[in-house]
Amino acid sequence: MQYPMKRAFSKVSFPKYNKPEIRTEIPGPRSKQLLSEMNVLQETRTINFFMNTAKSQGTYAVDADGNVILDVFGHIASLPLGYNHPAMAEAASKPEWLPFLLQRHALGVQPPEEWPRELRETLMRVAPKGCSEVLTTCGCGSSANENAFKAAFIWKRARERHGSEPTKKELQTCMQNEAPGSPQKSILSFEKCFHGRTLGCLSATRSKPIHKVDIPAFPWPVCPFPRLSYPLEENQRENREEEDRCLTRVEQVIHTHPIPVAGIIVEPILAEGGDHAATPYFYQQLRRIATNNGIAFIVDEVQTGCGATGKFWAHEYWQLDNPPDIVTFAKKMQVSGFFLKGEFRPAQAYRIYNTWMGDPLRMLQLDVITNVIEQDNLLKLVSDTGNFLKPELERISRENPYLIANVRGKGTFLAFDMPNGESRDQFLFEMRQKGVHMGGCGENTVRLRPPLIFCQQDATVLLETLETVVKNMKVSGNHRESAPTH
Ligand SMILES: Cc1ncc(COP(=O)(O)O)c(C=O)c1O
Repeated sequence: MQYPMKRAFSKVSFPKYNKPEIRTEIPGPRSKQLLSEMNVLQETRTINFFMNTAKSQGTYAVDADGNVILDVFGHIASLPLGYNHPAMAEAASKPEWLPFLLQRHALGVQPPEEWPRELRETLMRVAPKGCSEVLTTCGCGSSANENAFKAAFIWKRARERHGSEPTKKELQTCMQNEAPGSPQKSILSFEKCFHGRTLGCLSATRSKPIHKVDIPAFPWPVCPFPRLSYPLEENQRENREEEDRCLTRVEQVIHTHPIPVAGIIVEPILAEGGDHAATPYFYQQLRRIATNNGIAFIVDEVQTGCGATGKFWAHEYWQLDNPPDIVTFAKKMQVSGFFLKGEFRPAQAYRIYNTWMGDPLRMLQLDVITNVIEQDNLLKLVSDTGNFLKPELERISRENPYLIANVRGKGTFLAFDMPNGESRDQFLFEMRQKGVHMGGCGENTVRLRPPLIFCQQDATVLLETLETVVKNMKVSGNHRESAPTH
């Protein structure tokens, strides 16, 4: 079958929006037509609407039917500066970008001469404390974590060999996928965590069975993640007991699991799994356990990184004495990869490697993003907007305790629970019909993942819409009698 040549994308323009403008149901007729066109070729059930990207601006997405929608989901937390940010558009029109648009480098063989400077001045500029090096990967968070796991395994085996080269036997047996060359080593992760969908990552991911079923997995250990009670200030004693219970389990598993643990991976907020976080104490203790047992401590900042919590890296809230060994990133950073301590660089070349090893074009974008974050003081804006939004959500929760509970999060990285998955999905649908696009996570959670430019005016639109929807909403399912918990 022949398909017509695709049309070029239309030119970027900068209309201004400050409230939703709804013309059709969402998805509207044009989106529905595109869905059926696309469905012949691919799965489309995950798509909410098609976009007119050129007309979208700031925090507002314009869909293919001309609806103007406040975007509080931001392409699954991956849109740092909103749509068509003027600084990005200006930078992208500069001649320096053109060579990186016209070809893509194999950065491990022939990097552009600008690359060392970019690594130093763009990426290392935002390096988490304690990480002296950085490695870029294919672009997605999964590739960042996948390679971080490899770095942890290679580090662990090098330590066990006291730094000497792999033996002849190891080199032979690895070709048969057998020990000692392919050693029995594991990555410990937590219930409800999400670290990606590639084969290695999927063995660490524990959020939803549908992501994992039918796919062979490494038999790696999983530990319970603390389920905190909200509000945190009123439940400190119970929460500490809960965290200690989980920490005890981590230590037990490390000492008893048949496959020795080489790395612990944890998200600062378990996002896909329902936005669950622990207190700094929990992470401080995890760090201590990792150090005491010679295990790499990997922090997955794919979703939390790049400012959405009000700090550039969410783990800055933990105030660790000894920083993480590896911090992975992607999404809002546009570039994916991981920061690492020097000792995690493999002794041999080609061990963590692929064709592209990153993308200079995305690095140019990141340069703009970090400049705008700094110049426009976006971390403060995120905190200020969050400090306005969270108490308002808490008020709405107090007024509608059967519909909205457990308001939580930092900065604009906020979430709340609804009675069940059905009512959550109904809520998201109704919000979208009124021009506010939000996301779900976990079983019954609503998550906010706006761009960093999301301001009080946007938050007000969100709150007003939310209150209208909540007022009109009939609770589906049978959970009206009891307040929800996560
Ligand atoms: C914490 C975390 N890690 C890893 C990933 C995987 O990233 P990607 O979907 O870009 O592969 C995600 C994606 O949502 C994530 O939230």
